Amino acid sequence: MTAAERFLAACARRPVDRTPVWMMRQAGRYLPEYQAVRERVDFLTLCKSPDLATEVSLQPIHRFGMDACVIFSDILIPVEAMGASLSFTESGPALYSPVRTIAEVDRLTVPDPIESMPFVMEALRRTREGLHDRAALIAFVGGPFTLASYLVEGGGSRTFSAIKRLMYAEPATIHALLAKLTDTIGSYAAVQAREGAQAVQVFDTWAGELAPDAYEQYALPYQRAVIASIKNAGVPALLYVNGCAGKFDMLARAGADVVSVDWRVNLADARRELGDQFAVQGNVDPCVLLATPDAVTAAARAAMTAAGPLGHILNLGHGVLPQTPIECAQAFVETAKSAVAT
Ligand code: CP3
Repeated sequence: MTAAERFLAACARRPVDRTPVWMMRQAGRYLPEYQAVRERVDFLTLCKSPDLATEVSLQPIHRFGMDACVIFSDILIPVEAMGASLSFTESGPALYSPVRTIAEVDRLTVPDPIESMPFVMEALRRTREGLHDRAALIAFVGGPFTLASYLVEGGGSRTFSAIKRLMYAEPATIHALLAKLTDTIGSYAAVQAREGAQAVQVFDTWAGELAPDAYEQYALPYQRAVIASIKNAGVPALLYVNGCAGKFDMLARAGADVVSVDWRVNLADARRELGDQFAVQGNVDPCVLLATPDAVTAAARAAMTAAGPLGHILNLGHGVLPQTPIECAQAFVETAKSAVAT
């Protein structure tokens, strides 16, 4: 099997010769070759330069040979295309004019993805070409709730108090914002599939912060719409929510082919709660990769055993951390590559 065939077979729960593997945030600061590029350009310039974004997307594939290559970009790129002013600081993303009123929601546009983000499409085409099927090409979008949280909070947050306050006080404003984000993200995801992405992952990272009732109203319907547009474009959809314990019945109803599970849950339990029709991805704690290659190998094997061989993509439970030693990332990928299908 080629790597792309292996990854796509796992998404569809078809048999594979071995478990496919990649890491969320695999193109990034733990790689010295990424740091070398970042010394020359800032993060947003890197995202908007197709030649550099292609180079950085391919770096982990050249070094480790994962089965999937995730395009280098950020979930907030389309939010900037909607009219928000975005910058990246030492402490993460900053959006200088938070969106907290219906007038501020109305001022955001629903951009044409090709006109407003041509650099992403160009990077997808070039990366797909550069891969020669050595890995499946994955595009991604942020989930509507997660993107709304950055817009309302004005950046990252620990408590999500601004978006939750608005949600409980003025539900119509939040629904209007979520609907606009869903239109933008749905067409952006579909266009990325047309430009060469072989799967699209929805990162609704912060939807796990919601109470179950709130998730049902403010996350699930919008995830469903984005996932429907990915599947209409003819590629599998993967859904990641950080903190998915207790939400598996709703994750099942989102309609993704693959549910990407965080490290707080055992994959065998996740499978039991999700039911048979889904593939699972994950879910080693990224902090294990701060330890030793032996610890990483043991954790990766445990994840593969808990998931079983059919419909499992080995990954982390969240993005790889910048402090991760190269030999631990190597051990993670090698554990899948050296395992034999049983
Ligand atoms: O997975 C990959 O290798 C592809 C690239 C990718 C990035 N961001 C590059 C990036 C992906 C898939 C993302 C998604 C993303 N971005 C998410 C969802 C996934 C998750 O981790 O929860 C979120 C919440 C963001 C928003 C964001 N972008 C934050 C919070 C930060 C700063 C903190 C951090 O972890 O770096 C970013 C910046 C960012 N996005 C960097 C990279 C490589 C670091 C920028 C740098 O080089 O300084």
